[in-house]
This record gives sequence, C-alpha cells and structure tokens, in this order.
Amino acid sequence: STYQVGYFVGSLSSTSLNRTLAQALIALAPDDLEFTEIPIGNLPLYSPDFDSDYPAEARALKEAIAASSAVLFVTPEYNRSIPGALKNAIDWASRPWGENSFNHVPAAVIGASPGQIGTALAQQSLRAVLSFCNARQMTSPEAYIRLEPGAIADDGSVTDESMREFLTDFMQEFRDHVERVLTVLPRD
Ligand code: FNR
Repeated sequence: STYQVGYFVGSLSSTSLNRTLAQALIALAPDDLEFTEIPIGNLPLYSPDFDSDYPAEARALKEAIAASSAVLFVTPEYNRSIPGALKNAIDWASRPWGENSFNHVPAAVIGASPGQIGTALAQQSLRAVLSFCNARQMTSPEAYIRLEPGAIADDGSVTDESMREFLTDFMQEFRDHVERVLTVLPRD
C-alpha cells in the first residue's frame, strides 16, 4: 500500500529554496510515499466570520488534508517564526471549532534558509502550533537545512553526497513514523 503525503511549502516566492528542497525530498523519498502539494497562496485571511460558510479555497484545503495519510511542512523562517501565509493556512485548517483537520494526523517539519540556523526557530514555532493542533509530529530526526543558492539543482537533484544521505534518511524516518502512527490511528 502507499501513503499519500500532502505537503505544504511555507513560501510564496516564485524562486523558493524551500520549494526546491521539497522537490529534492520527493525525489529521495521511499517509493511507497506519494506526494501532493497543498497550496496556501490563494487563501483569504482567516476570520471566524467564515466558520459557518467556508470559501472554496478553504474547503479545498480541508479536503486535501482529509485525503492525506500524513502532512509534511517545508518552510522558510520569517523574522524568527513561520511565514504569515503558512500560519493563515493552519488557522483555516484548524477550524471551525470541533473540525480541526490536523487532529491525529502524522506530520513532519523541515526547512531551509541561507542563514546559519537553518530555520531552527521557525520550526520550533511551527512545532508549538502543530502540538496545539494535536498533529502526531515526528520529533527526530530534526532537519535544519542551511542552503547556499544552487546547492540543490532546480530539478531537485542534490549534488552534495552528505546532504543527499541526510535527506534520504529523513524521508525514510518520516515514512516509518507515518506507518507507526497509522497503525494506532488509522485514517479512512
Ligand atoms: C527572511 N529570511 C530569514 N532567514 C532566516 O534564516 N531567519 C529569519 O528570521 C528570516 N527572516 C526573513 C523575513 C522575511 C520577511 C524574508 C522575506 C526573509 C531570509 C530567508 O531565509 C530567505 O529569503 C529564504 O530564501 C526564504 O525561503 P524561500 O522563500 O526561498 O523558500
């Protein structure tokens, strides 16, 4: 059987390093993972006023998570936290009250930055949010990727061997985490 992974790219940039990292992760992942990007760029800003009648983009977001066996977050760090667009998407998905899309969903977090700490603080911030949303996060390995422009080619191929091994191991661990979570918390 295969696991359907819905992945979020936290950046809306047309030249996003994190989208390139996502392509690399997909290319290196075990064969029984299938990936679909869950887009966040067209969501309006969340307001509780929408709770009784979600717009089409927000319904599509919740349906995409419901159709996923697991979710993967690939995000930059903005001002030592996560980009507002990603937080907005999570807020939409967590509501209406009692219909939190992340409840019990297997999840993992990774991110890339040209800076030295490789999105560490953004990931801590995201982990706190996902904890409250009751997602089942992979806690280890952590992956704080410091990326020089060009370290991953545009087609997602990783030339640096130690980077390739690290990312391959991360995705194998993610796959095993998803399997373990779904054994006790199956999603139908
Ligand atoms: C950044 N950047 C950044 N980098 C970092 O390591 N820590 C940070 O707190 C921030 N803050 C920040 C805020 C804003 C508003 C921008 C636009 C950028 C730099 C950031 O890591 C860099 O632009 C990455 O290339 C962003 O990821 P994507 O969009 O290329 O995936």
